Amino acid sequence: MNILVINGPNLNMLGIREPDIYGKETYNSLVEKIEGYAKDKSIDVNCYQSNHEGDLVDAIQKAFGVCDGIVINPGAYTHTSIAILDALKAVNIPAVEVHISDVDSREEFRKISYVRNACFETISGKGTDGYLLAIDALIKRVAE
Ligand code: DQA
Repeated sequence: MNILVINGPNLNMLGIREPDIYGKETYNSLVEKIEGYAKDKSIDVNCYQSNHEGDLVDAIQKAFGVCDGIVINPGAYTHTSIAILDALKAVNIPAVEVHISDVDSREEFRKISYVRNACFETISGKGTDGYLLAIDALIKRVAE
């Protein structure tokens, strides 16, 4: 099984950006945590981060025919990007939306998610453990 973990804008700033909201863990330590978890579960994982919407669309398209599942935290593009939604719909790969913070208890504009329409599950407000929960959800889904 091969999972692509996509992180959008500003998630490379984890550990620096608003630590009271997103915690003190850095992006590199998040990647290590995800890779270690995938190794324990005997699955292949690739982590990709970009601050650019088109690059995120490209990464989703490249997963077609290659990946069995996608974990995606589109950052602020969650709330704006129909292009990322359409890319997820186009490849039709099982996808889980992750947010480190609890987006539904924050500002009104964070309650809107376009990508949610192409994801079978959303995990929000569980910190970086949400990525691991998303991997579990994909393993379960692909086994079904
Ligand atoms: C986020 C929540 C978004 O609203 C925000 O723009 C982010 C991070 C999260 O992981 O909680 O960049 O996706």
